[in-house]
Amino acid sequence: MRQSLVIANWKLNGDLGLIQKMAEQFANNDVQTAVKVVICPPAVYLKAAEISLAPAQVKVGAQNCAAQSEGAFTGEISARMLRDSGAEYVLIGHSERRALFAEQDAELAKKVVQAQREALIPVFCIGETLEQREAGEVKSVLRGQLEAGLADADFSQLVIAYEPVWAIGTGKTASPEQAQEVHAMVREWVAEVAPSEAADIQILYGGSVKAENAETLFSQPDIDGGLIGGASLDPVQFDAICKAAK
Ligand code: G3P
Repeated sequence: MRQSLVIANWKLNGDLGLIQKMAEQFANNDVQTAVKVVICPPAVYLKAAEISLAPAQVKVGAQNCAAQSEGAFTGEISARMLRDSGAEYVLIGHSERRALFAEQDAELAKKVVQAQREALIPVFCIGETLEQREAGEVKSVLRGQLEAGLADADFSQLVIAYEPVWAIGTGKTASPEQAQEVHAMVREWVAEVAPSEAADIQILYGGSVKAENAETLFSQPDIDGGLIGGASLDPVQFDAICKAAK
């Protein structure tokens, strides 16, 4: 039985005050007994978030990690440094990293290896654009991203997140049927490359998840939780989304 997992991706948002509000929101809360709750703040806040959220059994994660372990890479943060800062998870290959920072498949594959080498759990993000969906290329695009990015992955310590690019930050959520179709395809692919892990791997949906639509999405058989952007900046709404994953 897969445990539900809900991850907040704060992106370039949040501060120490929001960390405190989240700690208060989840302090006297029992959702964490049924749902694994993870918050990914900007990296500079990881240690503060880990300390503040630990009493509420809320874990923390990073939004990215370097493809290298050390060296002359100004501004980068290694998987070990993220682990030392309290991170247990790390998002890799988010569509914003791919589009805005030109992260390529080969680099993403190295990031997955770096993360797992430091005992971080990669949350490997995939997703198609509206043009690719309208061209009927969803399966080929997503399988291509999976094959290139997870070539050297340990599937026993991995999460996959499906985030249709056209649903991120747009308010246009994929329908439960659209999301389930892709999640089932992803699980079929995992069954091809890592048969023993296909039943257990958590596959998350991301893209305009809100308190109002979370339950119908999370009720789908191959949707094991969510990767939440904008709604995760509101403690009350994020709490409601986590409860919908029970
Ligand atoms: O990583 C999650 C994010 O891309 C989804 O954003 O605002 O559509 O929930 P949002």
